[in-house]
Amino acid sequence: MDLGRAMAQAFAHLEAGRLADAARLARLLAARRPPPPGLDYLLGLIALSSGDGRKAARHLVKAVAATPLAVPPRLALARAQIAQDRLTAAIGGFRVVGLLEPGAADAELGEAFLRQGRFAEALSPLRRACLLGAASAGLLNNRGAAEMAAGQTDAAARCFRAAIALRPDGAKAYGNLVGAQRKLGPPGHAIDSASRATRLEPAAAVHWLELGQARRDAKQGERAAEAFRAALVQTPDSWEHYWQLAAVGQGGEAASAYRHVVALAPTDHLRALYDAYADTFEADLVGKLNYRGPEIVLAAVRGVMGDGPFTTLDLGCGTGLSGAALRPLASRLDGIDLSPGMAARAGERGVYDELVVDDLNAVLASRPGRYDLIAAVDVLIYQGDLSLVIGQAARALRPGGGFALTVEEADQAPFVLKATGRYAHSADHLRQAAAAAGLTVARLDEVSTRTEGGVPVPGLVVVMRKK
Ligand SMILES: C[S@@+](CC[C@H](N)C(=O)[O-])C[C@H]1O[C@@H](n2cnc3c(N)ncnc32)[C@H](O)[C@@H]1O
Repeated sequence: MDLGRAMAQAFAHLEAGRLADAARLARLLAARRPPPPGLDYLLGLIALSSGDGRKAARHLVKAVAATPLAVPPRLALARAQIAQDRLTAAIGGFRVVGLLEPGAADAELGEAFLRQGRFAEALSPLRRACLLGAASAGLLNNRGAAEMAAGQTDAAARCFRAAIALRPDGAKAYGNLVGAQRKLGPPGHAIDSASRATRLEPAAAVHWLELGQARRDAKQGERAAEAFRAALVQTPDSWEHYWQLAAVGQGGEAASAYRHVVALAPTDHLRALYDAYADTFEADLVGKLNYRGPEIVLAAVRGVMGDGPFTTLDLGCGTGLSGAALRPLASRLDGIDLSPGMAARAGERGVYDELVVDDLNAVLASRPGRYDLIAAVDVLIYQGDLSLVIGQAARALRPGGGFALTVEEADQAPFVLKATGRYAHSADHLRQAAAAAGLTVARLDEVSTRTEGGVPVPGLVVVMRKK
């Protein structure tokens, strides 16, 4: 056997996609002593083509050691590391390739940075790669993502459009374009691109999500709900998709979507958020955001119900700021919070008779007719439709008892999910939910419990009473 020709033949098989033929020849070559030069490179490429990144890397490390200045084995080794998700090692490899042969690994280096979420570092190699060679749709999509992250929305939109021109049936580029168009406006453009993406790839929930968000931007609530429902058909366990639906759905559908959110995860999400927040919560809220929720609720309760004493439940008690304010009115004070970290702080304050770590909806449902006063201070901002919680609070109250709460105020009924991730509710929604629960609205005042960026956040304080 002429070794040189056999090696050339094996590489030719590999290049033509005849993997089995290449592998057969490589086995024959591997039996030769000494093995021919370049065999590790060949075996590495064969393993890489068959999807075995580990085996590929084993051979390619030897190939690189044998010819340290050769670019192809280094490039192949970095690709084998990508195949094993060893992104940092691959980035190192692509960088060395770039030193040996400028431009040879820019596209892949940029993509590896993107996969690590290092958008800023991805930008220059991706821009260079577009300048140097004929850009593929994949490269243009990657560059667009990096441009978006850098705030270069126009440039990103151009990249996504160029990717679409190259591959008009690529749903991904349309989906990416939606993100840019939602920023650039008008909303109709984003809706068109998102619709196109859903037609090209109807089984991808992400495109229905994009369509829903674009329609929500255009204030097409019902059509947005349709798209979120379609996303849920594809991913019935996604609490994020229920969350979106809860924000645009009407009445019963929003309530049911919210129940799914509660059942599927957010409790963990919110709990984790507040656990992480427990140490700095008071300094942030009181110190930086001029938080005044507890004193506002105290004054409203006193004005409507007098000085007590009341059997009191503090929903979402947090670190106990609201409990400390209400304690002088309370014959007994119970607190509930989802977050063990927050509840532990509340415990240290020593104002509660009982502290429960649980979801407030679950606790309310288990304590009918127990309380004179239930307070929810800066807590219902995490729930969309409040009918459910107001109905449950009504059942947990004694006759004559009161439910005192604060919310952020929305102009449009019934409620909106704000960019901050908190809900804002309209006065109408609160009145309707109170009426449905058999409560009368004894007080509903416009107040601000906190600032955001130095500006007071509009809110409402409400006291509802049970007959
Ligand atoms: C912004 S803090 C307000 C704390 C306190 N009421 C105050 O005025 O300082 C909101 C608290 O509500 C809790 N929370 C939010 N949703 C809850 C739920 N569904 N069940 C129980 N606690 C909840 C959070 O863990 C957090 O501690």
